[in-house]
Amino acid sequence: MHSRPKIIFPEVAVNLYKPANPVEVPIVDNQIATLEASPNKIRHITFDVSGTALEGHIRAGQSIGILPYGLKERDGSPAKVRLYSVASPSRGEDGEGKLIATTIKRVIDEEHDTQKLFLGLCSNYLSDFNPGETVKMTGPSGKRFVLPENADDFNYLLFATGTGVAPYRGMLADLLERPGFRNQVTLVFGAPYSTDLLYYDYFREMSVRHDNFHYLTSVSREGLRPDGRKNYVQHHLMDSQEILEPILSRENTLIYICGLKGMEIGLFSMLVRQGHAGYLKISEELNVKPPEQWDTGDLKKRVRPGDRLFVEVY
Ligand code: A2P
Repeated sequence: MHSRPKIIFPEVAVNLYKPANPVEVPIVDNQIATLEASPNKIRHITFDVSGTALEGHIRAGQSIGILPYGLKERDGSPAKVRLYSVASPSRGEDGEGKLIATTIKRVIDEEHDTQKLFLGLCSNYLSDFNPGETVKMTGPSGKRFVLPENADDFNYLLFATGTGVAPYRGMLADLLERPGFRNQVTLVFGAPYSTDLLYYDYFREMSVRHDNFHYLTSVSREGLRPDGRKNYVQHHLMDSQEILEPILSRENTLIYICGLKGMEIGLFSMLVRQGHAGYLKISEELNVKPPEQWDTGDLKKRVRPGDRLFVEVY
C-alpha cells in the first residue's frame, strides 16, 4: 500500500489582466486540429504574450479570457469575456513562456426552439483570425485544476472529452519532462469520430517515448458497444482494467476530469461500480442505498469530488 501524500497547491498568478483592462496580443498561428473529413472544426491557436505580464506566468491547466471586442451579445449588450483552457505547457509553446496556445471549437448549431442557425459568438470570432491580427486577452484564471507543486509524488489519471483535452497537452509535457518524474500517467480521451482525436500524433508519440504514459481513446460515433450504448471515456474503467486498476488502486493517484458537463456523472457512477468510491464524497443518505440503485439525481446531488479528484466541465 502506498501512502497518501499531501497535495501542495502551487502559487499561481491570477487575473493579471481583467475584462476592464485586457491586454492586446497578436495571434501568431491558427491551425485546424481536426482532420479534413471531420464535421467538427477545432483549431489550435497560438498567441504571443511576450512583453506582457502574462509572459512566463501561465500554468498548464489555467485558462485565459478572450474579449470579443466590438461584438454584441444576443440581448444587445457588449460581448463578455469567454474563458479557454491553455493547451501549452507551463514553459509555453516556445520553451520561454512567450507563446501560449488554446484549442477552440467553432460552435455551429441550430437553435432548438426557432430552428435557426446558431453561431457561437467568440469561437467563430477567434477561429477567423489570421496571424498578425490582435485580440484582447484577460487572465490567467484557475488555481486548482493544475498540477500540484509536489507533482512527482503522484500518479495521474486524466479524463477528457473534446476540447477538454487542451489542458492535458500542457500538463503532460510538464510532467514527463520533469527529470525526477517516474510515476504513472494515463490519458483517456473521448471524441465523436476518429477524425477528432485532437493532438493524436503528439499523445501517441509521448506514449511511445515514455513507458509510464498510457493513451486510451473512446470514439463514440463509429460503432456501438455490445449493449448498444456509445463508447464513452468511463467505459475504459471496465474495458481497460489491466491498465487502470494498478493506478486507481494506489493511494497517491489523482484523477482529473475535463470536458463536457455531464461526463463527471458517468465517471462517478463507474468509479463507484468498479470499487473506487474512495475518490468521491458520498452523502450519508446515499450510503444506505446500493450503488446499482443510484439514479442520475442521486449522482448529481449527493456525490461530490473527493480530495484527489479535480473537475473542470462546461
Ligand atoms: P456523443 O456526442 O457522440 O454522444 P465533442 O465535444 O468534440 O463533441 O466531444 C465530446 C465527446 O464526449 C463525444 O464523443 C461525445 O459523444 C462524448 N460524450 C457526450 N456526453 C458524454 C457523457 N455524459 N459522458 C462521457 N462522454 C460524453
